[in-house]
Amino acid sequence: MYCTRKITDDLYWVGGNDRKLSMFEGVYSIPAGMSYNSYLLPDEKTVLFDTVDKSVSRVFFENVAHVLGGRKLDYLVVHHMEPDHSATLRELLARYPETKLVCSRMALGMTAQFFDEDLLARTIVVNEGDKLSCGKHELRFLMAPMVHWPEVMVTYDSYDKALFSADAFGIFGAINGAIFADEVDFYGDYIGEARRYYCNIVGKYGAQTQALLKKVAALDIAMICPLHGFVHRKELSRYIGLYDKWSSYTPEEEGVMIAYASIYGNTENAAEALSIRLREKGIKTCMFDVHVTPASEIIAAAFRYSHLVFAAPTYNAGIFVTMEHLLTDLARHNLQNRTVAFIENGSWAPQSGRLMRAVLEPLKEMKFIDATLTVKSALKASQSTELDTLASAIADSFGAGAGSKAAPKNAAPAKRRFRCKICGYIYEGDFLPPDFKCPVCGRGAEEFEEIV
Ligand code: FEO
Repeated sequence: MYCTRKITDDLYWVGGNDRKLSMFEGVYSIPAGMSYNSYLLPDEKTVLFDTVDKSVSRVFFENVAHVLGGRKLDYLVVHHMEPDHSATLRELLARYPETKLVCSRMALGMTAQFFDEDLLARTIVVNEGDKLSCGKHELRFLMAPMVHWPEVMVTYDSYDKALFSADAFGIFGAINGAIFADEVDFYGDYIGEARRYYCNIVGKYGAQTQALLKKVAALDIAMICPLHGFVHRKELSRYIGLYDKWSSYTPEEEGVMIAYASIYGNTENAAEALSIRLREKGIKTCMFDVHVTPASEIIAAAFRYSHLVFAAPTYNAGIFVTMEHLLTDLARHNLQNRTVAFIENGSWAPQSGRLMRAVLEPLKEMKFIDATLTVKSALKASQSTELDTLASAIADSFGAGAGSKAAPKNAAPAKRRFRCKICGYIYEGDFLPPDFKCPVCGRGAEEFEEIV
């Protein structure tokens, strides 16, 4: 049985969901499965935007046949050649022999790498800004190299004001009948998986994502149709604003992420003691045991928070293996612009602090707190002052106006904070004036909510 959904009067979702796969790309846990989106536009010319992963091929081909209703397929637009979107490309072209492939030149080259057949004769190679008329709808192609592979492009449909955004704006997780983000509590229930998806899949390519966002800013967009997850037709500037933060390596929140590796619990104990001292200073913290929490979740948290603390034993004269793996992974994701502190442990020659710092030092705009806490086997009560010194150094490193920094004694009460639900702008004050207009998106006070 086909499983399609109508997106607009002219556009259908014809993708599929896989809830059997446990690890996406073999490395990212996906407890809620994965969606592979494909969209079909049956205009005067019929256009399919991307194919799908092989795991959902059966329902995909039924979906395409159902929406086409016996019509031929004129064009297959390929935004991205990664096999989660192109594994069924060759079979699609075999089933629809009149279909022309529409893609970037580099994508065409990749078809020859993945498949034996030479597709040049049935391909329309498009370049930046090229247009394709399908009847009512006119498609404009924009190159988006390295978001997430070099051949990637996106498509703008000026009739529906729809952006087909390839991997950008996707999430981990299957969609469960709801295709629109406004049918679910996206910013409550799904934004964590959107962040984890972006930071891990595309996070390394912030500059390239920024370049795409500049192109997006010049378009009148009513709808974003990504290759994974929900179609967005509301609060677009809020989601785009988050992408702007993530891709510019701007912390989303002021707070401290503490990631620790601990063999017998002593390093964990020191990390816990630091977290308590920070909380006592009014600073938001979150903690992860790197032996237990998948690296992708810790990397997403590192993109979220302004301050990072890494705590690890010295092991074989190096960094304990799980922490070394995490730090290497984080460095390869090109994280920037964070304040970092360390707790090192070692029963005879502690040096993991210096070694952890060396992994992160090549990253841009990183600030390191020199008050590394050294633990020799177990943290002692006599080290309370050292612990305080580290906690105070972290607290002092928060910038003026840091929302989560403790107010100094005798300071005026903290102002209330109101967030624009459309774009995320934060207003601080004793109250929100009823005639207030958001300086970023122009919406009125009714679109603001108080945050605590
Ligand atoms: Fe969803 Fe980069 O593939």
